[in-house]
Amino acid sequence: MDASNGTSAKSATLTIGDESWELPILNGTIGPDVIDIGKLYAQTGKFTYDPGFTSTAACESQITYIDGDEGILLYRGYPIEQLAETGDFLETCYLLLYGELPTAAQKADFDYRVTRHTMVHEQMSRFFHGFRRDAHPMSVLVASVGALSAFYHDSTDISDPQQRMIASIRMIAKIPTLAAMAYKYSIGQPFVYPKNDLDYASNFLRMCFSVPCEEYKVNPILSRAIDRIFILHADHEQNASTSTVRLAGSSGANPFACIAAGIACLWGPAHGGANEAALKMLGEIGSVDRIPEFIKRAKDKNDPFRLMGFGHRVYKNYDPRAKIMQRTCHEVLGELGIQDDPLLDIAVELERIALQDEYFVERKLYPNIDFYSGITLRALGFPTSMFTVLFALARTVGWIGQWKEMIEDPGQRIGRPRQLYTGDVARDYVPIARRK
Ligand code: ACO
Repeated sequence: MDASNGTSAKSATLTIGDESWELPILNGTIGPDVIDIGKLYAQTGKFTYDPGFTSTAACESQITYIDGDEGILLYRGYPIEQLAETGDFLETCYLLLYGELPTAAQKADFDYRVTRHTMVHEQMSRFFHGFRRDAHPMSVLVASVGALSAFYHDSTDISDPQQRMIASIRMIAKIPTLAAMAYKYSIGQPFVYPKNDLDYASNFLRMCFSVPCEEYKVNPILSRAIDRIFILHADHEQNASTSTVRLAGSSGANPFACIAAGIACLWGPAHGGANEAALKMLGEIGSVDRIPEFIKRAKDKNDPFRLMGFGHRVYKNYDPRAKIMQRTCHEVLGELGIQDDPLLDIAVELERIALQDEYFVERKLYPNIDFYSGITLRALGFPTSMFTVLFALARTVGWIGQWKEMIEDPGQRIGRPRQLYTGDVARDYVPIARRK
């Protein structure tokens, strides 16, 4: 590494017994310094042990920065609050992919390029018809995104920068179409083709909620809300799904397959499935007077129950996205004239109680973005099974941006973690007749 990307004059000394090694310390532009242990095994014959990667930087990146203690999230240096307040999602996509905010001409060109790729190969619709109607839309999404590599062979050569860019634009453009198709299929309605004179969010809402027998009028407040939800979810540095995309991509797999891997990882309730789980939990709580009972359960070490939508691996302060999400939630409910949403009442009260409770305060457990996004998405008309699909849609640009950054890094190598082996030592095979 040269001085522009992180060398520091400092080093760390590792001492094992009476031997010592100097390990270089690298510094980023902001955030903690990192101890470079890349040569540790070669020099010492030892690995490091860090399950869950709580102290391990697996890559160098210039895309997204989180300060979890201060509750800061920056995309390419810009605070999430400013991007969500003033920009639109495709502007954020441009920023994440190219590193700078677009000029008006660049934005118009980018919007045009994305818009012209919104349709999917017509045979994809037949592919959809092979799924059961009651399949979870995430299972349909993970399969259909993986299938894109069977349809767009001309953009799977990862060594060609032009093909990489076309694949990136295709992914951003087609994921709303596939997400809407997954939804339409699950409710037995016909697929709705994209309409290219609409903006990204409005087009998505129309593909989800219009039917051929009626005119669909996009409500600008609702489409602005969904656009903001997309911006808030667009990237989040090296989380589980993004790391999955990078790891899958490190072997040279094509971008469609890598994004499908990211979608699979996102599906889990500890990650992207949390807003679905948070809403289910609010429903299970059912009324404000039952909140203490659930708080008690969340604190009980013998009860696996956790308050869904609370806590975050990185944020040990209020998640900055949660504040914007909370405001968006109130805007959407106001626009739809939903005065009394019992789940919102439970959410507000639960948040109030938890933020005062010693258990949550001590552990720095704050509401995360998923706490209010479920209520908002439900009000917009999405069933809970679609929540993670919307997250995947928005995160696709982050995954693609991180994948592209990795492929374009000259120092990139296949990802290959090591392990602390605690199984049996070598032993001789015993034929079955002689086993006891
Ligand atoms: N409810 C009750 N207790 C909790 C919660 C919670 N939601 N989250 C963490 N804790 C407690 C743990 O029991 C642990 O307590 P202990 O120190 O007494 O053992 C302590 O807080 C630390 O928890 P960890 O699990 O070590 O924290 P970690 O950083 O590994 O987990 C996670 C983060 C997975 C998000 C966790 O907080 C959680 O499960 N939250 C609920 C699910 C959720 O909302 N996920 C969404 C994440 S955001 C996203 O993906 C967009």
